Amino acid sequence: MSYETLLVETRGRVGLVTLNRPQALNALNSTVMRELAAVLKAFDADNEIGAVVVTGSEKAFAAGADIKEMQTLDFVESYLGDFIGGWDQVAAARKPVIAAVSGYALGGGCELAMMCDFIIASETAKFGQPEITLGVIPGMGGSQRLTRAVGKAKAMDLVLTGRMMDATEAERAGLVSRVVAPEKLMEEALAAAEKIASFSLPAVMMAKEAVNRSLELTLAEGLRFERRLFHSLFATEDQKEGMAAFAAKRKPEFKHR
Ligand code: HXC
Repeated sequence: MSYETLLVETRGRVGLVTLNRPQALNALNSTVMRELAAVLKAFDADNEIGAVVVTGSEKAFAAGADIKEMQTLDFVESYLGDFIGGWDQVAAARKPVIAAVSGYALGGGCELAMMCDFIIASETAKFGQPEITLGVIPGMGGSQRLTRAVGKAKAMDLVLTGRMMDATEAERAGLVSRVVAPEKLMEEALAAAEKIASFSLPAVMMAKEAVNRSLELTLAEGLRFERRLFHSLFATEDQKEGMAAFAAKRKPEFKHR
């Protein structure tokens, strides 16, 4: 399958998606949205895939939603057409998705990175929500996911001033999980994805579900949800295998991976 705006490949059990609109610093238009949603859905349905990495170029993960596409949009058109609503399908991927970010991750680019499960950043990464400089506000989750990730003070600072933060600040603030040298970015992200893909897929997917639910539920409900998932994993052969392997001091051979 070939795509207009993406390069898609598999590396063992890892799906690798590279945003590929270099002429526009990977600005996110409707085609990117549609293609990325389709690729993630296909990876979700593919038993040979255990995790996904989404990346951009060295200069830009993505410099935002495509301003030229949005420029002439009017309210009724955007409302009736549910403009950018399709990004919810990207955020709904069930298998783990890692964002490997180098260079600019601005506006929709920062929001796309935050739709992923965690962000590994190159030292060159720059994050920001500059929509205010264009006379709008974040529309793909920036005001919500950024606030949950870094807290109100820094989210307000970034959303209201439109300034960028570098990788060090982003790691300190809790937006990114690791910062690595630019030349190590893909190696680190692919190794993390391979590691995840080596584990029992039901356990991995439930772990993702449980952490995500923590953002939606009260602590009591979240703990109840987690415990039910935990109980249910004792119905899997992989739990028997994982624990038997530990006891026998050997490597587990997970069946569902
Ligand atoms: C469309 C874009 C773009 C964008 C860059 N380009 N960002 N096109 N949408 N978001 C295009 C430029 O027009 C230019 O095309 C080419 O990419 C290279 O960009 P330059 O500006 O020449 O590069 P540089 O001088 O290195 O500056 C890099 C930059 C700057 C600082 C990242 O491009 C920039 O500020 N971009 C916009 C960032 C932004 O405001 N993002 C938020 C968008 S709103 P040409 O044809 O001239 O060579 C948003 C809302 C999301 O994301 C939520 C709801 C949709």
